[in-house]
Amino acid sequence: MRTYRLAVLGFGNVGQGFAQILKEQGALLAQRFGAQFSIVAVSDLQKGSVYNPDGLDPATLLAAIQTKGNFDDVRAPQRGWDALVTIAKSNADIVIELTYTDLRTGEPALTHLRAALQNGKHVVTTNKGPIALAFPELDQMARSKNLEIGVEGTVMSGTPVIRIGREMLVAAGIKRIQGIFNGTTNFILTQMETGASYAAALADAQAKGYAEADPVGDVEGYDAAGKVVILSNLLMDAPLTMTEVDRVGITQLDAQQIAQAQAAGECWKLLGTIEKVNGQVRASVRPTRVPLRHPLAAVKGATNAIVYTTELLGDVTVVGPGAGRRETGFALVCDLLAIHRKLRG
Ligand code: HSE
Repeated sequence: MRTYRLAVLGFGNVGQGFAQILKEQGALLAQRFGAQFSIVAVSDLQKGSVYNPDGLDPATLLAAIQTKGNFDDVRAPQRGWDALVTIAKSNADIVIELTYTDLRTGEPALTHLRAALQNGKHVVTTNKGPIALAFPELDQMARSKNLEIGVEGTVMSGTPVIRIGREMLVAAGIKRIQGIFNGTTNFILTQMETGASYAAALADAQAKGYAEADPVGDVEGYDAAGKVVILSNLLMDAPLTMTEVDRVGITQLDAQQIAQAQAAGECWKLLGTIEKVNGQVRASVRPTRVPLRHPLAAVKGATNAIVYTTELLGDVTVVGPGAGRRETGFALVCDLLAIHRKLRG
């Protein structure tokens, strides 16, 4: 049995989903994979910070948030450490970065990831900001120190797409990637097809925990553009930046346009596309009308989908959850198990 000590930075939806999975599946993971994942530190700006070098019980952490909304009553030998002190002083082997996403600066997550790597700790994150903005730099840093970076949850939450792409489909020659990469907007478009208003559908997406803290990132297509940048960097060897993605969101779509598409046997989807044309990579995020017989038309609600068009296999499609606390929490488990497999040899 190998034990990994984890420092969790940010304990919002995803952090709580992850703790829930460890609470429910921890014993199974240990039995099935020989890996024990022990949360030793949690540091959250609003909820407080607790550190116990011998481990904190996920059930206790979750109960504290459910009853009081903070860690004030959680017994721990050390309290009050901010993220950077937690990284520097805790005995964690792996830092799990789950602070809020900022696709303009990547902060504060970018500083946290750099500090973790500098301190010799592996990192796992679902935060799109630093990965969309600085993956090459972080990857280089990690390689130079023989450390791992897990980013599976940055695209399509726990649905495995990045690892499948990087480790398997790259060898089949990926020419084009297209998909539905934002759960909130797909949920809104689906709800509007059944007559809901845009505002009611957005409020519902927020209540269900799909939307970003600032939902402008979802509805204006920035979130999907961030994922397009991540996919192009990691899977197509094309170091695009956010400004190079031709981006349009869904805020200009009204009930009439939704109805017009339906009358024509089509539906609206916010599609992200990365394509190699004459050796150049082009990327876009655009609301697009697709025929109802198109495979992506059947993808409803917060579900996401990705179609890899490859030289050797033709189209390979993966459909699955694209958002949600447990769904995204699960991506962290996949990345942790990948680190375990690598270190175990
Ligand atoms: N706000 C994002 C979405 C969460 O709706 O897809 C997952 O990245």
